[in-house]
Amino acid sequence: MVQVFNCLDAMRKKITQWKREGLRIALVPTMGNLHEGHYSMVTLARQHADKVIATIFVNPTQFGPNEDFDCYPRTPEGDILGLEQVSCDAVWIPTVETMYPLGIHKTTQIHVPGVSEVLEAVNRPTHFDSVATVVARLFLQVQPDIAVFGRKDYQQLAVIRQMTTELNFPIQIIGADTIREEDGLAKSSRNQYLSAEQRLMSTIIYRTLLDMREGYIAGRSRANIEADATAALAVAGFQVEYAVLRTPELAEPTSECDENRVALIAAVLGRTRLIDHLEFSCPKIQ
Ligand code: PAJ
Repeated sequence: MVQVFNCLDAMRKKITQWKREGLRIALVPTMGNLHEGHYSMVTLARQHADKVIATIFVNPTQFGPNEDFDCYPRTPEGDILGLEQVSCDAVWIPTVETMYPLGIHKTTQIHVPGVSEVLEAVNRPTHFDSVATVVARLFLQVQPDIAVFGRKDYQQLAVIRQMTTELNFPIQIIGADTIREEDGLAKSSRNQYLSAEQRLMSTIIYRTLLDMREGYIAGRSRANIEADATAALAVAGFQVEYAVLRTPELAEPTSECDENRVALIAAVLGRTRLIDHLEFSCPKIQ
């Protein structure tokens, strides 16, 4: 049985007991409405720890004023059943008051310089401050040995890695592979906002990422690849926020090839914002 905690003291008591028993604890933070992507992280966490605690918290501060906080899908009963099926040991479901005791406007904030100031930050300037802040709070509440985050949110993972290293949290961060639908669309709680027609269109995101990789490996210029990717998405009806090639650290590459790269896309279809990425290596130039 997965143990459900709504009270910080009770959750901490359990964690303290596990630690006394010498058990290694893994944290899997989520906003709920769980799908196979989330469940795969629990399974991965289990491979690295004795006890796995997931969290479900739809963090109000990381949604912009015109974003989907109010209608974000909340399905706690189904989530708990699903967590049980993947043998999760516990789930921590804090209230907003527990997470932000002085209210959301009096929160001690964390800002992660550099990596949180590009790409997503152009249209969502404070998003990663709020993500870093809530993740730091979860780290302090649970004090896990490891924490698992999806590579699906590539920039988020980079922000969390930098924060964890720089603040010396004694926590190992593990990145979980992206779980996709059969046609390539990355699984996301937001996919359910798509109409049937938009759902068909959405597969173009992954295909565009594959084209970007192919073009780059074939030696096409980065500027041309990015322009073509943007155009292909726009023709399909997307409002493109970015379609870019970056270094693994999200810097603009200076050399054309011969290194690891990541292609990243953020695009809006109707009222649904989708993000995805593809990591790859360029073959060595002889
Ligand atoms: P949420 O969108 O619920 O995602 C929780 C975790 O699941 C994140 O680490 C995300 O990268 C991962 N994830 C989502 N879709 C995935 C997929 N298709 N394959 C693999 N992993 C996937 O990301 C958040 O919540 C929040 O920002 C959070 C970190 C919980 C802070 O509030």
